[in-house]
Amino acid sequence: MRRAAHQMWDSPRVLDDPLTLKIIGTEAEAALRAKGAPDSRDFESTIRAFTATRSRLVVDALGEALARGVRQFVVMGAGYETSSCGAHEGLRAFEIDHPATQARKKELLAASGIGGDVAMAPVDFTRQTVQAELPQAGWDASQPTLFSWLGVTNYLTREAVLETLRFVASLPRGSEIVFDVSTPASHLSVYERFVRLGVHLKNLRRGEPSGTRFDPAAFAQEIKALGFSRAEALEGPALNARYFAGRGDGLKLSARSALIRAAV
Ligand SMILES: C[S@@+](CC[C@H](N)C(=O)[O-])C[C@H]1O[C@@H](n2cnc3c(N)ncnc32)[C@H](O)[C@@H]1O
Repeated sequence: MRRAAHQMWDSPRVLDDPLTLKIIGTEAEAALRAKGAPDSRDFESTIRAFTATRSRLVVDALGEALARGVRQFVVMGAGYETSSCGAHEGLRAFEIDHPATQARKKELLAASGIGGDVAMAPVDFTRQTVQAELPQAGWDASQPTLFSWLGVTNYLTREAVLETLRFVASLPRGSEIVFDVSTPASHLSVYERFVRLGVHLKNLRRGEPSGTRFDPAAFAQEIKALGFSRAEALEGPALNARYFAGRGDGLKLSARSALIRAAV
C-alpha cells in the first residue's frame, strides 16, 4: 500500500512501479485515493519513502547485476512486491516467502492479471532453509544470483539471518544481496521508539513476533567474515543525498533508515 501511495502521490517518484497499483486491486486503490494526498513531511511519509527507496536500491542493484552478466534474481520474503514481475531478457526470477503470504500473493497476481514468469517456492525461514528449498524451484547454485531481502530480517532471529547470509556468501562470485535492518532503540529518538513499540505490539497481536535489531555499520563489517568481498551499510543521510536531494515537497527518509548491500 505504501509503494502504491508513492506511485499515486509522490512526485518525482523514487521508485517507478506501476504494477504495485495493479496488485493491490481497484478497491484498495480507490480507498487510497479517497484518503487524499499525504503530508510528505510527516512521520508516516518517511516510512513510505523508505519502502520505495529500499525497492529502488534493488532496481539499481538488478541493473548493475544484469550488466555484469548475472541472470538469476531471487526475492526472499517477497510479500506483494512486483520487482520480479518486470520483463528482463534472459533473467530467471524466483520468489520465496512464507507459505501463507505466498498463497495470498498468487491470488492477488491472478486477480490483477499481472503476468510474468516467476518461480515460487514456499519457505518458512524459521523451519526451512533457503539452500534446501530454492533448488526445488529450479534455481541453479552454480550461477551467480542477486538476492533481494526487504522488510524481513526484523522478523527473524539473528541466527536465522546469519544462516541465510552465510549461504549467500558461499555462492559464486558476482552474487549479491540487498537487505534492510532495523536499528537498535539506542539509535532512535523518543518519538521513533514510541512508534516502533506500537508497531511491535500490533505485530504481536497478529501473531508476528518481530524485533531483531542490528547496528548497520557494525553488522556490515561483521558479515564480511562470512565470505563477502564487500559489504556496505547505506543509512538515511547517504540515501537522502542519493535519492531525495533537491525535492520541493520535503519528502525524505528518517536518518535511522538502513540498508545493506553485500557482494560475494
Ligand atoms: C514487511 S513484509 C515485506 C514484504 C516485501 N519484501 C516488501 O518489501 O514489501 C515481510 C515479509 O516477510 C515474510 N516473512 C516474515 N516471516 C517469515 C518467515 N518466518 N518465513 C518466510 N517469510 C517470512 C512475510 O511473509 C512478508 O512477505
